[in-house]
Amino acid sequence: MRARGGFVAVVLAAGQGTRMKSALPKVLHPLCGRELVAWPVRAALDAGAARVVVVVGHGREAVEAALAQRFPEHSADGRVITAVQEKQLGTGDAVRSALPALSDVDDADYVVVLCGDTPLLRHEAVSALLEAAAGGNKCAMLTGVVDDPTGYGRIVRGADGRVTAIREHKDASAEERAIREMNPGVYAVEKGFLVRSIAALDTKNAQGELYLTDVVARAAAEDAAGVAAHAWPMEDLHGVNDRHDLARAESLLRERINRAHGLRGVTLRDPASTYIEADVELAAEVTLEPGVVLRGRTQIGAGARIDVGCVLDDVIVAAGARLKPYTVAADSTIGERAQVGPFSHLRPKSTLGPDVHVGNFVETKATSLGARSKANHLAYLGDGVVGEDVNVGAGTIFCNYDGFQKHTTWLLDGAFIGSDSQLVAPVTVGKGAYVATGTTVTKDVPDDALAIGRTKQENKLGYASRLRATMKAKKDQAKK
Ligand code: UD1
Ligand code: CA
Repeated sequence: MRARGGFVAVVLAAGQGTRMKSALPKVLHPLCGRELVAWPVRAALDAGAARVVVVVGHGREAVEAALAQRFPEHSADGRVITAVQEKQLGTGDAVRSALPALSDVDDADYVVVLCGDTPLLRHEAVSALLEAAAGGNKCAMLTGVVDDPTGYGRIVRGADGRVTAIREHKDASAEERAIREMNPGVYAVEKGFLVRSIAALDTKNAQGELYLTDVVARAAAEDAAGVAAHAWPMEDLHGVNDRHDLARAESLLRERINRAHGLRGVTLRDPASTYIEADVELAAEVTLEPGVVLRGRTQIGAGARIDVGCVLDDVIVAAGARLKPYTVAADSTIGERAQVGPFSHLRPKSTLGPDVHVGNFVETKATSLGARSKANHLAYLGDGVVGEDVNVGAGTIFCNYDGFQKHTTWLLDGAFIGSDSQLVAPVTVGKGAYVATGTTVTKDVPDDALAIGRTKQENKLGYASRLRATMKAKKDQAKK
């Protein structure tokens, strides 16, 4: 349920994140395949925000570029936009920087504020927050309880149990520091009240900053309804301040992703060793063996089986395909019932048709193989167009590069390439043509022709024992 009208969201992401000790802005560190800041933006969108304003500052160009790439449609239609905070004068100042970007959204009664470094927050938490505000409170917030609240703002409550203020760790007395109820930095504030309260903020605190948390104290003092404080489980609320926090958040997110796939009918033999990024799509009846890593926009079709140690990056695998152990593939497509691996390497723009077999120590790059074609052992297929029912023998190499340019090898339907052949591109082997083992193909082979290019063999009878005797004599001579 939404509070009265709609809502807009502000995601604070202008800080440097000093404790990450990183040249990369904190909010761009990846987490299960998405930038840190993309997680709260996603949660706000999924909860129904009319607009999400991301406050940027430190590394702003990089953050803006990442957001445009992560949310292309919403960036184009203005549902995800950025506002610049020139100097990082505190969280209150960050929200102030976002206000002009909200002024034209008329049907939003509430502004939801999230932190760019709180990736675990689910959209359900945002909805619950708005529901908490639906009683008419000017300010609602989530609170969590944590064993070690060091660094977080503490929730200060009066004798009647009502929230009276949020005390920053640095401003807190010893007594206040003992409070384990913390501020996760997730608020819903009535828009007009927010604008007035932000204008009235001051810097009288230990850090000399404009604290957004003072808006909460103001609501506690001015609003008869008080602050709606809604308790929420910590597993959604942990902030990321350093790389240890990042790793912990990632393992929690990974567990969530794995659980969701398991419930949707995917077998994860060993969830603890399976890494599936957030935007990967898996059909039902997919089986993932231990040590599988699926990244980017990888999609796996129904019934496909991905065996031990496969690493797939932006790969589309059709239904019923079988990837044997340690297949490494990127930016490629694998057809229905195709078999790949063990130890195959599909580099970008490899396209395998249905029932194709690519076996051990075969590397492909920008090469397509038509239905039922096979390259089962030890081959390099670069810049190739391989038709249907082609057989590529062991040790075949497409010599695609002359040191300056890449050239194409065409193997037409039904061609047979004998083992240890080199195809010096650009070159075409015609339909049903046959390349004899050990041939270096430098000229096009017509349809149905046999190409053979190797020196004639001669057998010298009885020569082997004579050769051995000569060699042994030479060796004995050398020892003396
Ligand atoms: C803030 C809260 C604290 C809360 C904690 C939760 C205040 C004063 N304190 O503290 O009560 O427990 O978050 O994580 O609000 N940011 C800007 N511009 C700035 C300062 C910060 O955009 O000028 C952004 C940061 O990039 C970050 C977020 O705001 O994403 C929180 O800032 P941070 O400095 O981490 O605040 P905390 O000290 O953790
Ligand atoms: Ca923080």
